[in-house]
Formats: sequence, structure tokens, C-alpha cells
Amino acid sequence: MNKIFGFLLCALCLVFVRPTSGNGQSTERVTKVTPTATPDPPGKLLVAIHYETLCPDSVFFIRRRLYDALVDNNWWPVTDLKLYPFGKASFYNNTSKGEMQVFCQHGEDECELNALHACIIETLDVRRAFNLIFCMLRSYSNQLDECARSMRLDVSKVRECKSSRKTADILAPYGRETLKLGLSFVPSIVFENDFDPYGQSSIRYHFDRHFCKQYLKKFNITLPTCAAIL
Ligand SMILES: *[C@@H]1O[C@H](CO)[C@@H](O)[C@H](O)[C@H]1NC(C)=O
Ligand SMILES: *[C@@H]1O[C@H](CO)[C@@H](O)[C@H](O)[C@H]1NC(C)=O
Ligand SMILES: *[C@@H]1O[C@H](CO)[C@@H](O)[C@H](O)[C@H]1NC(C)=O
Repeated sequence: MNKIFGFLLCALCLVFVRPTSGNGQSTERVTKVTPTATPDPPGKLLVAIHYETLCPDSVFFIRRRLYDALVDNNWWPVTDLKLYPFGKASFYNNTSKGEMQVFCQHGEDECELNALHACIIETLDVRRAFNLIFCMLRSYSNQLDECARSMRLDVSKVRECKSSRKTADILAPYGRETLKLGLSFVPSIVFENDFDPYGQSSIRYHFDRHFCKQYLKKFNITLPTCAAIL
């Protein structure tokens, strides 16, 4: 439950952080940390994946590189994974309709699937969401029912999210983050909010090595499986 709220808060922080930070009534809690304590639960590296549901390169990266890296290396406990199913989509104002709409690189079907993924990300904890997305990306059609059934997942909240809101509204918070990058290739992978546009091809093909390097840089720790990779 905390994870879900954590993600929601993060997705919405652009909207809420600014207005509340100026009122001087900070409700921040200060937790005391013993100076000698080493981080007991291991620190997590922030990894953001900007992808599209109908993009073969995104499917390949998520199903063959990212999944293997997280599972084979047992990196879930050291990864703070954020998924942004938006890619090279864009928003536009439909003046005749009088509302914001979204245009996706691979057409309307992709917008619908991107929004479905967004609903998965919003309503399930990140690990379940990722496993469901991994399953769904085996096909370019909607696999929600099949995957949910085989994984024995309750996805009623996913369906409710998708059917009760407009596609552009569902995708808005993801689009805001992705559009900031001005990315030229999908998928794009961002460590610690520090987008390296020229490093993308290397990161896609040698994700493990980059993960290890970034982890070492942030925590000064060589993860067990990284010794052989670095
Ligand atoms: C659409 O119009 C609204 C106001 O009418 C504006 O705030 C928004 O930035 C516009 N969006 C785009 C993508 O042009
Ligand atoms: C704008 O909305 C109208 C009415 O729903 C629709 O017929 C038209 O195709 C839309 N235009 C674009 C560019 O999406
Ligand atoms: C990083 O860790 C090594 C030992 O693992 C230590 O010798 C070194 O001083 C550390 N560097 C920093 C900047 O903490």
C-alpha cells in the first residue's frame, strides 16, 4: 500500500510540491540517524524507463535486458524502478472538441495500451506491475485478461482506472516527465534523474554494466554480481 501511495505522490509531486512548499508550515519529520549506521536495507538506485507499448525496441529492452538484469542479479531490492509508458507521444489541444488529447508514435492503439500500462503502474505495487507488464509485452495486443488470469492477479482497479478516465488524463503525469527529457530514442533509460542522451545506446545494450557503475558511483558499493561485470 505504501508503495502505491509513494508512486502516486511521486507522479503528482510536480503538481503539489510547489504550492505547499512556500507556506512555511513544513510538516516534514526529522528522523534521527545514528552517524555510524551503515544503510541496513540496501540503498536503491533510481532507474526510470521511458517506453512505448508498441515499440519493438522497448519490448526487447524490457523483456530481455531489464527483466533478466533484475531477476538474474537479484537486483529488485536495490532498484527503485519507475516506468513511464509514454515515449514519443505528445499532447495537443483539439479545438473543435475543446479538450486535450494525446497522439502516440504508433497510433491510437498504442495510446490505449500506454494508458492501460499507466493504470497498472498506478494501482499495483511496482514489482507486480512490472511482472504484469512483462507478461503483457509478449504481444502487441491487449493481454490484460490472459496475464492477470495466469498470474492470479486482481486487476479490477486497473480496469476501473482505464474505463473511468480519459486516455490523455491518465497519461498526463507520465507525459510531463517524459517530455522534459526531449528524448530522441525509445526506450530511454535514466539513472538518478540524470538523463544522458548520448549514452542511451550503450545503456540499452549493456544495462548491467551501467547499473553497476551507477550503483558504485552513488553508494560506493560494488554489488556482489557486479564484480564480474565491471
Ligand atoms: C491546451 O490549452 C490549454 C489552455 O487552453 C493550455 O494550458 C495547454 O498548455 C494547451 N496544451 C497544449 C499541449 O498545447
Ligand atoms: C477533434 O475532435 C473531433 C470531435 O470529436 C474529431 O472528429 C476530430 O477528429 C479531432 N481532431 C483531431 C486532430 O484529433
Ligand atoms: C569507498 O569504499 C572504499 C572501500 O570499499 C574506501 O576505501 C573508500 O574510502 C570509499 N570512498 C569514499 C569516497 O567513501
